[in-house]
Amino acid sequence: MYNFDKVIKRTGTDSYKWDMIAKKYKRDDLLPMWIADMDFEIAPEITQAVKKRADHMTYGYTYPSESFFDSIIKWNEKRYSYHVEREWLNVSIGVVPSIKAAIYGFTRKGEKILIQTPVYPPFHQSVIQAERELVTNPLTFDGEKYNIDFEDFENKIKTGVKLFILSNPHNPLGRVWTKDELSKMADICYEHNVKILSDEIHSDIVFKGYKHRVMNSVSNNAKNISIVCQAPSKTFNIPGLSTSFVIVENEVLRKRMWDSMAAIGINSVNLFGIVAGEAAYTHGEKWLDEMLLYVEENADYVIDYINEKLPKIKTYKPQATYLMWLDFRNYGLSHNDLINKLIQEAGVVFNSGTDFGEAGNGFFRLNIGCPRELIKECLDRIYEVFKD
Ligand SMILES: Cc1ncc(COP(=O)(O)O)c(C=O)c1O
Repeated sequence: MYNFDKVIKRTGTDSYKWDMIAKKYKRDDLLPMWIADMDFEIAPEITQAVKKRADHMTYGYTYPSESFFDSIIKWNEKRYSYHVEREWLNVSIGVVPSIKAAIYGFTRKGEKILIQTPVYPPFHQSVIQAERELVTNPLTFDGEKYNIDFEDFENKIKTGVKLFILSNPHNPLGRVWTKDELSKMADICYEHNVKILSDEIHSDIVFKGYKHRVMNSVSNNAKNISIVCQAPSKTFNIPGLSTSFVIVENEVLRKRMWDSMAAIGINSVNLFGIVAGEAAYTHGEKWLDEMLLYVEENADYVIDYINEKLPKIKTYKPQATYLMWLDFRNYGLSHNDLINKLIQEAGVVFNSGTDFGEAGNGFFRLNIGCPRELIKECLDRIYEVFKD
């Protein structure tokens, strides 16, 4: 049994989540519920492997070991029943850099790229920074979960889109896309010669009753047009080690992606990231399964609290990710007033919904990857300010 209730002091470690807000708002009493990393201690096997490697006291240029690739292949087989060949794999310093490599490799300036909003801000930013045209397919809410408007999706794809960047599962909406949804999107893209970048960084954080599907695995059309990005970083809470990888089945696509990754210089990884990643995939499964149960209980806790004490806030249980999407629109306040109330009065920091696209106006993203005590503290602080 791992102890996910243990509160760890993270201030003073240059933690983006904890130290950056104190710096930004010049206050040390804010509760950070934003940035997507978790406040849990990682699986001890990962720390042991890193310590063992660190004790060698030579940290020279290192290539990714075959045993690291083997651990990725076994993980995909075991968790998603997806068979990966060694030559389909390449390493990358991060998923966002791989998204950029796909943008530069598969589109030219001014060409169209589709995203499904609201979505992880670097999807928007990477397209804009590369001077490509952003096209959006807004996701729609049915009262329980968000869905794809396929008519709009196809209409947008038909306008000359070259690349579709998919969040699979979806950040911030917590949707696990089904095999049918994924193959339908892939068929539409295939028909119109659109490539898919499937960002699967949250693929392991999927709750009971749902199953992640690797985009490549859903159909022949899908595997011929898809670039899949995965990583041990979110799953095992090691994003500071900058280690991820890319899976491309189609040979032509693969060469183009590998060339683009090499051109922008991202096809390498940190030596400790490799050691940690392999240890995580080889020994971390029990930790992950316990973490998932704990985080799912956190989601239930938030929902019960909100239903009972803050019914004006609307939310729903995510199918995946340790992120929740909270709707504050019933308060009738402007988004800026909501931000001020949350930060200045309640002393809690969420990700602002508007960073995920226009549809995020009035919404905030809550990170529940932390001890329940912090969630309770966060909700109590909100209750004090928003109870009426
Ligand atoms: C959907 C998604 N993609 C990518 C990332 C970041 O990936 P990396 O740190 O490997 O660049 C995140 C982090 O929150 C994310 O939520």
